This record gives sequence, C-alpha cells and structure tokens, in this order.
Amino acid sequence: MRCPHCRHETRERARFCGACGASLESSVTCPRCAAINPRGQRFCDACGESLSSAGGASERDARAYTPRYLVERILTTRSALEGERKQVSVLFADVVDSMRLAERLGAEEWHRVLDRVFEILCAGIHRFEGTINQFTGDGVMALFGAPVAHEDHAQRACHAALSAMNELHAYAGALRARGLELSVRMGINSGEVVVGKIGDDLRMDYTAQGHCVGLAARMEQLAAPGTVLLTESTAQLVEGFFALADVGPRSMKGVSAEIRTFELRGIGPRRTRLDGSALRGLSRLIGRETELTWLDGILARSIASNGQVVGVIGEAGVGKSRLCLEFIQRCRARGVPVHEVHCPSHGATVPWLAIRELMRGYFGLAPDTSADSIRRTVEQQLLALDAGFASSVPLVLEILGIGDSGQRPERATPQAATFMRRFFRLQSMSRPGVLFLDDAHWIDRASDELVQVIAASVRGTQTLLLANFRPEYRPAWIGGSHYHQLALSPLGEEASRELLRDLLGSDGSLDELSARILERTGGSPFFTEEVVTALAASGSLLGERGAYRLATPIETLALPATVQALLTARIDRLGERAKDLLQVAAVIGKQFDEPVLREVSGLGDGQDFDAALGVLQDEEFFRLVTLSPKPEYTFKHPLVCEVAYLSQLGERRAQVHAAVATALEKLRSDRLGEYASLIAHHWEASGMRFEAARWKRRAALRVANIKVGVRGVGRRRAPPPENG
Ligand SMILES: Nc1ncnc2c1ncn2[C@@H]1O[C@H](COP(=O)(O)OP(=O)(O)OP(=O)(O)O)[C@@H](O)[C@H]1O
Ligand SMILES: [Mg+2]
Repeated sequence: MRCPHCRHETRERARFCGACGASLESSVTCPRCAAINPRGQRFCDACGESLSSAGGASERDARAYTPRYLVERILTTRSALEGERKQVSVLFADVVDSMRLAERLGAEEWHRVLDRVFEILCAGIHRFEGTINQFTGDGVMALFGAPVAHEDHAQRACHAALSAMNELHAYAGALRARGLELSVRMGINSGEVVVGKIGDDLRMDYTAQGHCVGLAARMEQLAAPGTVLLTESTAQLVEGFFALADVGPRSMKGVSAEIRTFELRGIGPRRTRLDGSALRGLSRLIGRETELTWLDGILARSIASNGQVVGVIGEAGVGKSRLCLEFIQRCRARGVPVHEVHCPSHGATVPWLAIRELMRGYFGLAPDTSADSIRRTVEQQLLALDAGFASSVPLVLEILGIGDSGQRPERATPQAATFMRRFFRLQSMSRPGVLFLDDAHWIDRASDELVQVIAASVRGTQTLLLANFRPEYRPAWIGGSHYHQLALSPLGEEASRELLRDLLGSDGSLDELSARILERTGGSPFFTEEVVTALAASGSLLGERGAYRLATPIETLALPATVQALLTARIDRLGERAKDLLQVAAVIGKQFDEPVLREVSGLGDGQDFDAALGVLQDEEFFRLVTLSPKPEYTFKHPLVCEVAYLSQLGERRAQVHAAVATALEKLRSDRLGEYASLIAHHWEASGMRFEAARWKRRAALRVANIKVGVRGVGRRRAPPPENG
C-alpha cells in the first residue's frame, strides 16, 4: 500500500508510514464516545455524533484520544472524584518554534504533522494512564494522579514523557529526511491540585495548590528542544527509577526561592520501591522471625521433590517485599537458585511485562543484550533443553519483545501456555529453585495467566513459587493442597517501637513525637519510614538517621505526599457509594457506630447502605469492634481515616460535620450531656460558632455538675440529674 501523504510504498501490515511516520489506519475516532469508525463515515455508528471534525485538529477533544475504559471509569465515577485534593504530576509538552514550522509547511501539511505529534503524545500519556486535560494549540497539558489517583503518578509521568519522546525522535528523523526540523520539549512538576468539575469532554477544572501547574508549564518553557525538564519535587519522587541530570537552580517569576531542576535522561537502575529504600540504606529487619522460619519449612518441603506455592498477602507497605527479600537472600546463601520477577506499578497495562522479565532471567539476558545476541542465546538454550523446542523459538522471541510480528495480544495464547508448561517443568524438574513474584498485584493479565500455568505445574518439581500481593488482588492460582497463604500483619507495638528507635534514635526530645508517630502509623513500616523521612526533609529533625533530635516542637504531623497518594489511590478503587460512605465516616471520627453513620450518610434503611458498609469491611477499610448494644466500627488504619478526611474540600467537610452534630442530637437525645462536647466539636468544625458555643456551655456545666456530684457523695447527697 502507498502512504496517502508521501506516496512511499509501505509494508502490507504497516500501521504507520516508514518514510514520513503518518498514520496509515483508515479509521477515525468519534469525539463523543471514542468509538473507532471507518474513515469516510460522516456520523459515528456507535452514538450518532458528527465525525466531520474528528479527523482534524481544529476541535480537539480529549475523549477522542482517551482509551474507552479510562473514559468510562472517569465518567461513571466523576461525582466521587469532583471536589477532592489529589497529589498529581503535571506534564506540559509543546512543539518548539511551531509558528515557523507552520509557515513553512502551509496549513494543510502542518495540520497533518501536528496530528501525528498529538497522536504520539496522547499514546504515551495514555499508556501510563494519564489524562489529557488541555490542548494548548501546539501542545498538551496532561495530569497523572487526577482525576483518578495513582500512587506512582510521578513515575508514570516520566515514563510517558520518555516513551513519547522516543517516538517523536523517530518521527522527527523521518521529517528531517524531508528537510524539516521538528522538536518537542516537555516539563513536569508534582504537587497538589483540587479536582473541580469534570466535563463530558473529560476536561477537568482544577485549582492548583501553590504553583503546581504553573511550575510544570515553566519547566516546559525552560527545557531545551527535545528534552524533558523536572522540578525537584518530581525528581525526589522518581529518584533512582530514572536517570536524572541536575541542571542547576532556576529562578521563576512569582516564586521567591530558586528551584532546582533536573533533566530526564532515561530509565534508572531502581525497579521497585524497596530498591529505593536500599539506596537510602535498608532499615534493620525487625521481627518476622516466625514468618521466615515458616517459609524455610515450606522450602524444605518443596525441595523434597514436592513443589509448593506460597502467597504472602498484606496491605500496602506492611513489609511483604522486604520479608520475601530477606528470605530469597537466605535461599541464595544456601545455594538455592532464585528467579525473580518484579511487577512495576504501571505494569498492569503492559501485556507480557512480568513474564518477559522471568524469561530474561531464565536465559540470563542482561538489560543491554543486543537483539541478535538474544536470538542466538535463546535458540541455543532452548535446543539444549529439548530439541523439540525448535518450533517455539519465534514464540519466545515474541514474548521477549523482539519477534517479527510486533503483536502483543492482551491475553496469553494457548501456544504460550503449552510452551510455558513444558519449559517450566524441564527447567525445574531436577534441581531445586525458587521462583519469586514480587508485587504481583500489579501483574499484567497475560503474565498472570501464564503464572497460573506455572502454579499448576509446580507439583512434583523441586520449585517453590513465592508471590506477594495486596489483598485487592485475588489470583486465580490460589488454592489446592500445595498452596499456602501467609497473611502478613502490621508490626506489633514492641517491634514498631524498635523500628522507630532505629530510624529516629533515642534522644529525649523525641519521646512525645515517637508516641504520636506510633499511634498514627499503626504498625506499618512503610508509613513509619515515610513520616520520619518527611520530618527530616522539612527540617523538623536535626542530625542523621538513627540519631535525630527535635529541632522545633511539632504541632501537627504533616501527611507525607507519598502516603497520601498511595492511600488516595486505594480509596479511588472503591465504587462511588462505598467511597462516599468512607468519607462520611472519616468526618465522624476514627471510631463510629452504625446508626450515626447510617443517619449521616442519608442512605436510610435501604440496602445501598448495607452493601456499601459490607464492601468497606470486605476491603478491610473498617473493622467491627462490637456488635451490641449497636454495631461499632473503627478505621482499620488511622491514616486511611486521615487521608479520607483531608482529601475532601473544607466546604463538604463542614456540611458533613453539621450533619453529624444534628444526628448526634437526635440519636443521643437521652444522653446529650455525655455527648455535649462531641456535638460542640462537630458544630465548631462545621463553622456554626453559635451552636458550638451553646454545646460547649452545656458540656462545661456537666463537668461542673459531675465535680459537685463527686464531692457530694461524701456528704451523702443525691447525684445531680443528667443535664441533657
Ligand atoms: N520487618 C521490617 N523491619 C524493618 N523495616 C521493614 C520491615 N518490613 C518492611 N520494612 C520496610 O518498610 C518499607 C516497606 O516495605 P515493603 O516494600 O516490603 O512493603 P510491601 O508490603 O511490599 O508494600 P507494597 O504493597 O506497596 O508492595 C521498606 O522500606 C522496608 O524496608
Ligand atoms: Mg511490595
């Protein structure tokens, strides 16, 4: 087929022209519902929208460039997303010197070039689940972490920038052959925004906190053509995951202090969050001896020619990866080989990613091995294992991403499953080994299906398949007599204290602070580390890790941005009603009873309330404390309550506080004196000062009466009546 733009003869299955990079796909995306329509059709055959402007650049609509599942997710939950604080990374991208290019090319040709640039930018952004918030004429503004929260928003923004930049360099190369110089520059900054109204076209109103969005735009303006510039706040979040070059401080209009800036150069050595902790120096492993001994026992069973599968399950940051890391280090020290696969947080949308890493490990391929060398190694090793594998070489090369078809099906194919079963059995039949799958909650679907095949093939080998994951992931391969689950609990009080002592030191000035951190972090080692790191970074602590002292008294413990992003992402995975109920509960307090929650939620006696409450218990947000006289619940983790509270806007919180006060007045009418100070607190938080003052007086009167009552007992007087 010939390219319609440059007439170059292209390969039969080419999707883009090999000479000018133009899209060869004869389709047009509907600007309203994002359905793909054949080119030439005047109206969308899915929703009836006019397609006359869809192929052009004049009326760009973000929906047309956004994958359908993302459009649906945003539009179906938008009322739960609007009006929330979110930690985000903002990316600006822009064509350099676009006026000059436009003038040279003429309107029509320029339009086509720009279309291709947008296509590349949008593909990169969507691959990492960012949303385009605005087309800026010859560029875009994209958000990662809003409207739907992502705990790794900064990494996603950097991956998107790198992936788009690579494609753009290739496209610019093709244009250069025609004497045209195209280059794009990008800027990224991370911070907080308040999500406003989300329009039908996915455009989101937002209020940037501080200079969050302005700084990203400024980074883009300062970036050299063809480069990506980051602020320090983004650089800190992605340290080690990417190769960064410190390009010095810059002054900015409207910002008093100079801002350190970094150029994004490529992918870094760090693969997981734990690698990052290792860069800072891993804290000493506290506790977990029982768990390690248990794992040793299962390994012994596996090696006695009876392969086993272990799932280590626990909440984010509880220490699953760390426990497994300690275990596999022990295995290696004893001479048991370990194959590791780490699922990166953006990996769920990249087909075959995890299984590719596993295969690379099996074939001993270093990251910089050339495609030719990979082909040779794979062929040699497969044939050495079994001559019958000759026909499987193309499949394995495909899995490794260097096959001829360039196709990457979303699901595992039957051929891949058959190959994996045989390959794994031959690999592991006669020697002991551990196959370790880290952070499996982020595995892509095709890899997951192949892990299922492996899990079923483990029996009768000498392999231990060890995986760790968060509770929200429910693998299809759990179960069977060779499967064991280890539910990892938060650290106990003594172990938490020990960890904190290791991190902070034992200076007397830290006693009160330590107690507050312990109460807040609820035994989570990750949260504990993050709180201490944030305190040190803010200058509240002086000295160094393990030997700090307090610099200034701390009024309120700030919430680390990393923890906030992680927990908001977890909350955003809830359905609209459950999320709403969680937010209402967070306003009531860390502990609450069912009648008050029901009253304030406005869901009444209906099933909706029961269903939402059920979800919040199943997903381990709430824990039932007591059933009688009325069911009482508590937030399972104190920080979830804090995040769910803080992410709501003040206006909404005020309304809910007022509703809580009203509900307490109604439901505690027989014990109002006892609840007076709590009711006063909610009226105060709702901004109703008059009501608050009234209830405070009542509370004070009750305290006075109790004192009189206590004294009065000695004088044998009757206790004062309840002053409700
Ligand atoms: N028992 C422990 N003693 C000391 N530090 C620990 C312990 N467990 C975990 N940590 C530290 O806490 C941090 C978080 O641990 P880890 O990454 O293992 O959590 P995780 O459960 O795997 O979280 P995620 O679900 O996000 O993958 C790491 O820096 C780790 O070194
Ligand atoms: Mg982990």
